[in-house]
Amino acid sequence: MSSTQPKPLPAIRLATPIPGPRSRAVFAARRDHVADGPFHATPIVAARAEGAVIEDVDGNRLLDFASGIGVTNLGHAEPGVVAAIREQAGKFIHTSINVVAYEGYVEVARRLNELAPGEWQKKTFLANSGAEAVENAVKVARRFTGREAVVCFEHAFHGRTYMAMALTAKAAPYKSGFGPFPAEIYRAPFPDFYRWPGIGEDVPACPGGGPCPLPRCLCREAFAAFEQMARSEIGEGNIAAVVIEPVTGEGGFIPAPAPFLTALREWCDAHGVVLIFDEVQTGFGRTGTLFACEQLGVAPDLLVLAKGLANGMPLSAVTGRAELLDAAGTGGVGGTYCGNPVACAAALAVLDRFAIPSTLAHARRLGERLASRLEAWAGRFTCIGQTRGLGPMRAIELVKDRRTKEPDKAAAVALVKHNYEHGVITLACGTHGNVLRFLIPLTAGEEQLDEGLDVVEAGLEQIEA
Ligand SMILES: Cc1ncc(COP(=O)(O)O)c(C=O)c1O
Repeated sequence: MSSTQPKPLPAIRLATPIPGPRSRAVFAARRDHVADGPFHATPIVAARAEGAVIEDVDGNRLLDFASGIGVTNLGHAEPGVVAAIREQAGKFIHTSINVVAYEGYVEVARRLNELAPGEWQKKTFLANSGAEAVENAVKVARRFTGREAVVCFEHAFHGRTYMAMALTAKAAPYKSGFGPFPAEIYRAPFPDFYRWPGIGEDVPACPGGGPCPLPRCLCREAFAAFEQMARSEIGEGNIAAVVIEPVTGEGGFIPAPAPFLTALREWCDAHGVVLIFDEVQTGFGRTGTLFACEQLGVAPDLLVLAKGLANGMPLSAVTGRAELLDAAGTGGVGGTYCGNPVACAAALAVLDRFAIPSTLAHARRLGERLASRLEAWAGRFTCIGQTRGLGPMRAIELVKDRRTKEPDKAAAVALVKHNYEHGVITLACGTHGNVLRFLIPLTAGEEQLDEGLDVVEAGLEQIEA
């Protein structure tokens, strides 16, 4: 480590109650000057951050198990990313790809095309945010197919711009009062094994692979519901695209079973419909592989990426079949800042880091350690209705009663508060707001993971008492 780099921050150290006095002062000013619209999950004000640790303006050090909503997957101030940003900023910060091109944009596109699954020619264009990339994916699907309808799913979250909001399932706080929304959006049931109608306390896990041995195959039931809606309500020939998250993000970390996604893939092929995977939250190692769809064995026509792509710089991408992306026509997608050079430099450093096999191997190890701890909690705490996820993308669903599965949002809110007051930043999610999700930095040490989970466990003990 060079002498100019700050020393790594040790884990939790609480110097004041959280929030401390300086944080409270910033929040008082925030209330006066910042619109209420942007949400804040904690009252913490950052001073600096490194790896899995954020130090606040009061000198408290907290473990960051939120990663800026699944963005800083490689940890804060990842040296390669920081160096790339510094170097690019010193050369030029902006020309607009629409005016003067630069190598970084082309190289990010080339590498994403190479990495995305699918044995076909691929192309990529870049944007700024997840929502913007989702919007653009729908635009190209409509232009390519000449059709209008788009099918999305329950528990979906795709962003806050108009099309992304229309595709999002949850009314409050995302949609209420913001209508009317774009037309021709249809919502199908998501194969949620925990809350599927008629399923009792014993929740069958999808075994995946071959013929389903379960007495009720929920993949088949969910697919039948989708197929029925597509046929009778929309008409297959009117559908441009099907948009799905392989694991719902804001919607509660519910993994879509591989057989369900395979069925969707086959159905889209049969009906000339574009299959779009929104991997904004699941991408870049979050589920233990670079993209979740790799381990699920299904390649989408369009892969929507953001968040971890540039580890904190605003950058998103749509990668997929070349003929589809080209259908947008020159000038049909893009924008002033899309594919900013500094963000592209950060993305290339991210891709370099993921090219080292130990990066994903470590992420998977953390995922296994997290999963076994959450399983142990589920055996001990009756407030946990289900623990689920894919790789290190894991969550616990909190309920008032395991039998009725009544969601306990208050418990999730209390747990998030307990966690940050004791030095761990976590986030709730879920359609009912009752899910505690873990978005740990995938570069965190195992001892950091354990230290943070000890704090959460103490919170669960309080809730249970
Ligand atoms: C799956 C998914 N899609 C889209 C978005 C929207 O991304 P952004 O907030 O960058 O617009 C998010 C954000 O959380 C997301 O989780």
